[in-house]
Amino acid sequence: MPVIVYKPERKVIVDGVQRTIAKHEQWFVRDTSRDFHAAGIIIRKEQLKPGRVKIGNNEFIIIAASFLDQYKGIRREAQIITRKDLGFIIGFCGLTKDSVVVESGVGSGAATILFAKLCKKVHSFEIEQKNIEVAQENMKRLGVKNAVVKKADFYDVKAVKAKNADIVLLDLPEPWKALDTARKCAKLGGYIVAYTPSITQAAKFVSSLSEGMLHERTTEIIDRDWRIKGDAVRPVTADIGHTAFLTIVRRIL
Ligand SMILES: C[S@@+](CC[C@H](N)C(=O)[O-])C[C@H]1O[C@@H](n2cnc3c(N)ncnc32)[C@H](O)[C@@H]1O
Repeated sequence: MPVIVYKPERKVIVDGVQRTIAKHEQWFVRDTSRDFHAAGIIIRKEQLKPGRVKIGNNEFIIIAASFLDQYKGIRREAQIITRKDLGFIIGFCGLTKDSVVVESGVGSGAATILFAKLCKKVHSFEIEQKNIEVAQENMKRLGVKNAVVKKADFYDVKAVKAKNADIVLLDLPEPWKALDTARKCAKLGGYIVAYTPSITQAAKFVSSLSEGMLHERTTEIIDRDWRIKGDAVRPVTADIGHTAFLTIVRRIL
């Protein structure tokens, strides 16, 4: 059973002033059949179970890894879609436990796994055999049984056999080339979502839409962390990371 090992922050009072002498650290431990080594400490395999472990002056807290902890640790071959963007797709397109999703490409399977945990069925199409294998390994590790990955070129409408999808997700370099396939796979009233790192890709996708494909919106989900420390309450000083633009189209004909 994978676990999370936490090393809590340690503080001491020196001359009446509180000082941090060890920062909070945490590790995801997938393989608990072996001793865990990190930052100069060893936790024996018999100790790698939920509870508290004292080693020298340090106390560690161990909890069972959740689905999300394991999801964050998936093997990454291709660039994955982040949870902030997947969360938007789920909410905006109204994914439910009865939904059917078609997606391409599968990449590392990050989108596949999160959708499959929430919906009825995911049909994924991928052109690279290596990526299919990585995604399938990740799916197996996360206990996903309601997703199938097939080798196919999603730009080739004849190569893809799928229909009645509530959501068709296109995470491909040239999504405008996949519009005929996406139309074939989406049910009437279903959504087609293009995930494009560049706005020029989004623009080309929108200008390629044919009759009956309603462009609902193109958006970017901006996620900004805040620092909260005493009275210092302000956005974290860092560039706002860009992931991709999301273009949402509804098939109405
Ligand atoms: C950025 S990755 C997808 C990441 C995935 N959505 C995830 O969240 O893990 C893009 C994938 O599209 C695949 N791909 C590119 N062109 C394709 C095509 N014509 N048909 C199917 N898959 C394709 C690539 O091999 C790559 O694995």
